[in-house]
Amino acid sequence: MKNIIIISSSIRTGRNSNRVALFIKNFIDENKLAAVEIADLNEYKFPLFNERLKFQKEPEKQVLLFAEKIKTADAVIIVTPEYNGGYPASLKNVIDLLNDEWKKKPIGISTVSSGAFGGAQVITSLQFTFWKLGAWVIPVTFPVPNVDKAFDQNGNATDNEAAKKRATVFLNELIWYSEAKSRMI
Ligand SMILES: Cc1cc2nc3c(=O)[nH]c(=O)nc-3n(C[C@H](O)[C@H](O)[C@H](O)COP(=O)(O)O)c2cc1C
Repeated sequence: MKNIIIISSSIRTGRNSNRVALFIKNFIDENKLAAVEIADLNEYKFPLFNERLKFQKEPEKQVLLFAEKIKTADAVIIVTPEYNGGYPASLKNVIDLLNDEWKKKPIGISTVSSGAFGGAQVITSLQFTFWKLGAWVIPVTFPVPNVDKAFDQNGNATDNEAAKKRATVFLNELIWYSEAKSRMI
């Protein structure tokens, strides 16, 4: 069974995109698609980036734990809100912190917004950054418009059938990439 880490990026007070992270986690668990864990950046509360982990002399334990999770994951899902057309500082903070851990890592992206466009403008900057790092961003995405209406606080979807259908396509693709990778090494 593959091991998937979901990064819940928003650390905003009253955040809503974490609902999507919960939905995806529950969907993976219920369908036994993989072992899955949420890496919640709001719980880690990492300090602002000041150097890459590999150059830090005395890295914090929680940073090492996070890095190990990413390194050993077969795939990573990023759940990110769109803030002014970009992704949040909290996410950039951990992307830049790591380096080798991202290389050849299958990554699925879920963009989230409270508006009608599902964070469509955040996707290209995030894809580009992960391409620079040598990660394998899958082409299927999981955009979520109107997040506060689409999911409740526990990650239950308002239109569960539609959400399940889209999640299946997204996760099948991500797991395909992680299986393809394991055949190469
Ligand atoms: C600083 C800020 C900037 C935002 N910019 C955008 C934006 O560019 N496009 C958009 O669709 N929604 C934007 N929104 C609305 C967010 O999509 C909405 O707040 C969403 O719930 C964000 O995820 P979060 O609740 O997990 O923080 C913005 C929200 C904030 C707080």
